[in-house]
Amino acid sequence: MKVSNIRLALPTVILAISFSAAARAETANTADFSKQALQAKIDYCKTCHGVSGQGFHGSTPIPRLAGQQTEYLENQLKAFIERRRENKYMYNVAHVLSPTMQAALAKHFHDLNPKPLGGAPKELVAAGKKVFEEGFPDAQVPPCASCHGPEAKGDGAFPRLAGQLHDYIFNKLVNWSSERGQDAAHPDTSAIMQPIAHNLTKSQIAAVAAYLNYQE
Ligand code: HEC
Ligand code: HEC
Repeated sequence: MKVSNIRLALPTVILAISFSAAARAETANTADFSKQALQAKIDYCKTCHGVSGQGFHGSTPIPRLAGQQTEYLENQLKAFIERRRENKYMYNVAHVLSPTMQAALAKHFHDLNPKPLGGAPKELVAAGKKVFEEGFPDAQVPPCASCHGPEAKGDGAFPRLAGQLHDYIFNKLVNWSSERGQDAAHPDTSAIMQPIAHNLTKSQIAAVAAYLNYQE
């Protein structure tokens, strides 16, 4: 896919951003749950995502949620619920959460800041930094930093990648087209990453994932 197609997808991002801003404005007045109910949900999320939301390297990697952008977190919960994003665990977890509960959970995890779990092969980090900062212009891969931010902290619908588990990042980029944007009638923000994920080789992905794994 060409850069022009990436631009075509951008209005979707803007729509998603203004939609979640409206949802947050609602949250202020209409909490439909008690503090205890929120804490019970948080404790439940942490049984898989780690006590500080730092993620967990298990048989399937469970992503870090700590420090993640609230808009991105809310977008993903909605994507699981609406089956635009395919995952056998997270549909069951998410579809029972009210919109206000989703917003409260997103805020909780956004505010956490544990150290990255680490564990990626250190010898790939230097090559990965180059991928992140420069991309591959000849292969239609813009610098990751141009969207995810120079320190990989993300912004709004663009996720934080800093400190994310390398094995999670690797799996997501390799399987992008079969997991994200699964409702052709309702294209979403995942369309922006699709050509980029597609145009990266597995060794380029392993390198950039190792670099991101150690970023704080
Ligand atoms: C049974 C384990 C389990 C529980 C409990 C769980 N999750 Fe997850 N979660 C996962 C797995 C596994 C993934 C990775 C899915 C994938 O690979 O696409 C995930 C992914 C996510 C993502 C996407 C993150 C990203 O970077 O795109 C969000 C957001 C999320 N979970 C939020 C929550 C919240 C909020 C709760 C509590 C209400 C929760 N999860 C409870 C297993 C769990
Ligand atoms: C044109 C902007 C853009 C560029 C350039 C870009 N990304 Fe993304 N990326 C996004 C958006 C938007 C999302 C969120 C997609 C969604 O909502 O499903 C995303 C999501 C991701 C995710 C999923 C995060 C998660 O927690 O599941 C990973 C991993 C990722 N990008 C890695 C990269 C890497 C590595 C590069 C550079 C090779 C890169 N991105 C370049 C816009 C971009």
